[in-house]
Amino acid sequence: MTVPPVPLPARTTVGVVGAGPAGLLLARLLHRAGIDCVVLESRTRDYVEQRQRAGILEQATVDALRSSGAAERLDREGLAHDGVELRWGRRRHRVDFPSLTGGRRVWVYAQTEVVKDLIGLQLGDGAPLLFDAPVSAVVGADTARPLVRYTHGGAEHTLACDYVVGCDGFHGVTRNAAPEGALTTFERAYPYSWLGVLADVAPSNDELVYAHSPRGFALLSMRSPTVSRLYLQVPNGTDPGAWTDERIWDELDARFAVDGDWSLARGPITQKSVLPMRSVVTEPMRWGRVLLAGDAAHIVPPTGAKGLNLAAADVIVLARAFEQWARTGSTAGLDAYSDTCLRRVWRAEHFSWFMTTTLHTAPGQSDFDTRLQLSQLDRVAASAHAAAELAENYVGGPVG
Ligand code: APR
Ligand code: PHB
Repeated sequence: MTVPPVPLPARTTVGVVGAGPAGLLLARLLHRAGIDCVVLESRTRDYVEQRQRAGILEQATVDALRSSGAAERLDREGLAHDGVELRWGRRRHRVDFPSLTGGRRVWVYAQTEVVKDLIGLQLGDGAPLLFDAPVSAVVGADTARPLVRYTHGGAEHTLACDYVVGCDGFHGVTRNAAPEGALTTFERAYPYSWLGVLADVAPSNDELVYAHSPRGFALLSMRSPTVSRLYLQVPNGTDPGAWTDERIWDELDARFAVDGDWSLARGPITQKSVLPMRSVVTEPMRWGRVLLAGDAAHIVPPTGAKGLNLAAADVIVLARAFEQWARTGSTAGLDAYSDTCLRRVWRAEHFSWFMTTTLHTAPGQSDFDTRLQLSQLDRVAASAHAAAELAENYVGGPVG
């Protein structure tokens, strides 16, 4: 028996473009607040759920997932982390979060798992979440009824909204809803990328390891007690296929090398990908009745583990603003949204730039610049104030 197609909504309160962490968490928060929304995602569910991304959640992100009923598996499988390790000049230095930040910590739980959990809940609740539904345009941002034009099932459709939120990432279309010149983009590109790998081997450190070395940056992270996530700095344009497993492990060994008893366990590499490093901010994050959240509004280099958490912070603020509007008719929260979020965005941009430029060895970097980096790392090891500045930024703070 053929299942009758689900009737596509022609109208909703909040149209959400994109089902990454930003779009999915916003939809979950709105659904829990009784505000109807429709999520339109261009890719398939499988593609969205398998896309390898970050793995660090700030407490505010965890709290939002918990309050929206989306943290049952996170609470069971997530790993609470109380610090990270920095390495330079064959030295190791641990930055302890709780003692430096008044008790705060972070959680290790892959973005892929956050996305799976949110999709499962939304679909389980029958919330309108359409995959294979690419949005071609958002129009009418300066009207009371912005429209989202999309295709699904081989046909063109239009969704009439009270508001549209672009959660469609760096390559999305929602930014185009603003007139030419209305938005300003601030950008910085970095002269290196990351080669990221997943490996079926237990992580060789209990906490994350960020390593500065003359050969380039390396990061040891994890996905579970049996799966390691590792990254190494490579030139822009690197082909992941040019790196054999052995070459990857040999290079990671060289970059993590320290005096004393530590070794990097090896195992089969199951996934390789290269990601560029860039900082981008679009201001303002709103034009009329169209708002931007997450990577659609800002990009950070992953060194500070801020991308997912900034996306979550945006939609936490936005969901509160929509709830205020739905309850009282006041648009005060919506009107303040961009300025509220940009304060946190620029703090995260600076921290991500600081971590990236302190830990990476740029092509042709002068010895003077290397000495500055090593002096900064020595400072973190020697001064509780310097260590606290790094820890405070890494764990993040309350949203809004
Ligand atoms: N129509 C519908 N969906 C679209 C369109 C479009 N025209 N363009 C992009 N999308 C979808 C993408 O397929 C993707 O699933 O929007 C989603 C955007 O998700 P993300 O790029 O993950 O962005 P965001 O939700 O803001 O999450 C930010 O994800 O990319 C990482 O490092 C980033 O951790 C950060 C987090
Ligand atoms: C990850 O686990 O993928 C990860 C962790 C910390 C970072 C970046 C990525 O800074």
